[in-house]
Amino acid sequence: MNPTEQPPTAGGPGENGPGQAAPAPWPDPAQEALRDRVASDSLTTRRDYLRIVTTVSGGLAVGAVAVAGGVLHRHGDSEDAPKPKRVADRLRPGESIAFRFPGEDDRAVGVRLKDGTLVGYSAICTHLACAVLWREDRGNDGELYCPCHEGVFDARTGEVTAGPPPRPLPKVLLVEEIDGSVWAVATTRSGESVKAAMCRQFGEQRPDMAARIGCPGMRTRTERSERT
Ligand code: FES
Repeated sequence: MNPTEQPPTAGGPGENGPGQAAPAPWPDPAQEALRDRVASDSLTTRRDYLRIVTTVSGGLAVGAVAVAGGVLHRHGDSEDAPKPKRVADRLRPGESIAFRFPGEDDRAVGVRLKDGTLVGYSAICTHLACAVLWREDRGNDGELYCPCHEGVFDARTGEVTAGPPPRPLPKVLLVEEIDGSVWAVATTRSGESVKAAMCRQFGEQRPDMAARIGCPGMRTRTERSERT
């Protein structure tokens, strides 16, 4: 019997006369005990459920505030121009490499797509800073995938294609030397163009290079000497 059901009354409907309510049955101690246990169990379960919901949503809220407030690490936070770093001796189509650039806290991933295009990204998710993984088996070109909340980024552009991440992945600019080695040379911020990133990072320290790529206000050494 379902413990929440009332037990049958001792007599039939006519036993106490028409219109008279039957007297309350004497409680069965075993049923009473069972009912108490079920009631306290469901109370505990409800309390536990509320505690879990509060903890999880509280954790997410703290994480979001931490990202907004800059507590969680974002890729390439430093203002210093990075030093080029050799990240692979060679990267063949379909291969990927995990590395750190420009700092030791800056996880990054480089991928040679099947058509030979070389791409590099921050491997720090723009949602709550989980590690982003390269998944060659997903999508046409493969995907950058964050397992924490199913975030997905486009392999060619770093744009968000699914899940909660609010911004694209910052890029890590990779160049290939004549010997096939792959070097990380600069980073973009999320949504920043490659040119703007190069000008920001190299404008002061390497004015010649900044002038060659057309950074506003920069002049090559030749142009500068012509003016004097
Ligand atoms: Fe939430 Fe990556 S941390 S999707």
